[in-house]
Amino acid sequence: MSIESEKDLLALQKIGRIVANCLQTMGRALEPGMTTRELDEIGGKFLALHGATSAPKLTYNFPGFTCISVNEEAAHGIPGDKILAASDLVNIDVSAELGGYFADTGGSFIIPPESTLKRNLCLATKRALELAMNAAQAGRPLNHIGRAIESHARKHNLTVIENLGSHGVGRALHEEPGFIPGFYDPKDQRILRENQVITIEPFLSTGARQVFETGDGWTLSTTKRYLTAQYEHTMVITKGRPLIMTLPA
Ligand code: CO
Ligand code: CO
Repeated sequence: MSIESEKDLLALQKIGRIVANCLQTMGRALEPGMTTRELDEIGGKFLALHGATSAPKLTYNFPGFTCISVNEEAAHGIPGDKILAASDLVNIDVSAELGGYFADTGGSFIIPPESTLKRNLCLATKRALELAMNAAQAGRPLNHIGRAIESHARKHNLTVIENLGSHGVGRALHEEPGFIPGFYDPKDQRILRENQVITIEPFLSTGARQVFETGDGWTLSTTKRYLTAQYEHTMVITKGRPLIMTLPA
């Protein structure tokens, strides 16, 4: 969507803050021994308390309130009986709708103790999000987002998952301008517009370039020897830095 009024901005900010606070609440609740279903229920309760509806459930009939992806799982993990353990890398992705507006956020967490590999992967992915946001300005080519992500990944000897990426959001979970790659595509002619609402969500990996569907209809994984991290914000494009909608408060 494109922000056309103060009302649009306030409504998007409202659902943005809810998903951001939901993500933080779930991150703080992480504990070895809990199941991903228990973690998801904390998120589901939080959304309900704030009148929000899980977007993946609403849009795709996803079997959970949030997506929880552990270790080699990169995205769209189904909450279930999996028991979280010390030093697991856990990605939580929260997207929800309120009053017809959608916001999407996500982040990777390490259950202590943290290995250097996992910590560095998470730090580099967080930084890739920052750098991509700096490159996302109205009037600039959209492919500068992927260029920023890819060059930062290379600097840290990490790879980019090529079949996961950022996207338009706002009036639906996934909308125009469609898929925004996390790598540089010189053929992509799209230009960022002022007031456009998109996510930026780099997926950096310790070696994988592709995820595949694991057979449960949802979970996207790399091969077992790789780890992937993701951080995601929903934002409004401006002539300067994007306005982040998914900041916790
Ligand atoms: Co997301
Ligand atoms: Co997203």
